[in-house]
Amino acid sequence: MKVAILGGTGSFGRALSARLAIVGEDEIVIGSRDEERAATTAAELGARVTGAANEEAVRGVDLAVLAVNADAALDTARAVAGALGTTPLLSVASAISFEKGRGMLPDPDVLSLAERVQQIVDAPVTAGLHSVAASNLEDAPDEDALVCGDDETAKTIALELAGRVVGGYALDAGPLASARALEGLTAVIVNLNRRYKAHAGVRVTGVR
Ligand SMILES: NC(=O)c1ccc[n+]([C@@H]2O[C@H](COP(=O)([O-])OP(=O)(O)OC[C@H]3O[C@@H](n4cnc5c(N)ncnc54)[C@H](OP(=O)(O)O)[C@@H]3O)[C@@H](O)[C@H]2O)c1
Repeated sequence: MKVAILGGTGSFGRALSARLAIVGEDEIVIGSRDEERAATTAAELGARVTGAANEEAVRGVDLAVLAVNADAALDTARAVAGALGTTPLLSVASAISFEKGRGMLPDPDVLSLAERVQQIVDAPVTAGLHSVAASNLEDAPDEDALVCGDDETAKTIALELAGRVVGGYALDAGPLASARALEGLTAVIVNLNRRYKAHAGVRVTGVR
């Protein structure tokens, strides 16, 4: 499939693009606020990867991945909404914050970022891959990827992509409201990494 990675110049978007390029089944368009930065990153990732400004990157793709810095997720959704139309959008963003003495904290907002993105765009929004660290994507990580969403077709596409980048399973975690838990899981994983000096991921037991 053809996939746009918005924020593909950042650590997660770049790592996801690099893994997908190695797998070799998708055509990838790196998105950035800066067309040249997108092109430079794309050139480093091989022939299957091109670059474009975010609004251009989403045109004509099968799936767009919202992989910008979490603080920029809503503004970026607003910026690309028109060009995106009804193309499925997978949000990987988690609005976690750090507090000295306590550690990483989940977003206190009642709605997940993905649900707030869904209020902005017409496109069906899914959320997933929050538990997969950029650093673990150098190889197919021995972990599962959780994806949620309300639109079954969009979720099938997002699960297909997620299944290509992890060594474990891409699992359907239910409706978009599950993004509240999945985004919060990022804070849990970062706390585990800090506590155990690890690169934690998630493996779900009992489903296969
Ligand atoms: N890092 C991980 O291991 C990991 C794992 C799972 C999920 N995630 C999620 O993936 C997303 C990206 O994480 P990251 O660590 O890659 O973040 P990052 O490197 O800080 O940012 C990613 C990209 O976001 C764009 N960006 C930054 N500020 C922006 C703004 N004000 N407006 C529009 N775009 C802006 C930048 O692209 P341009 O400057 O080129 O536009 C940047 O390269 C986050 O939402 C995070 O929650 C990260």
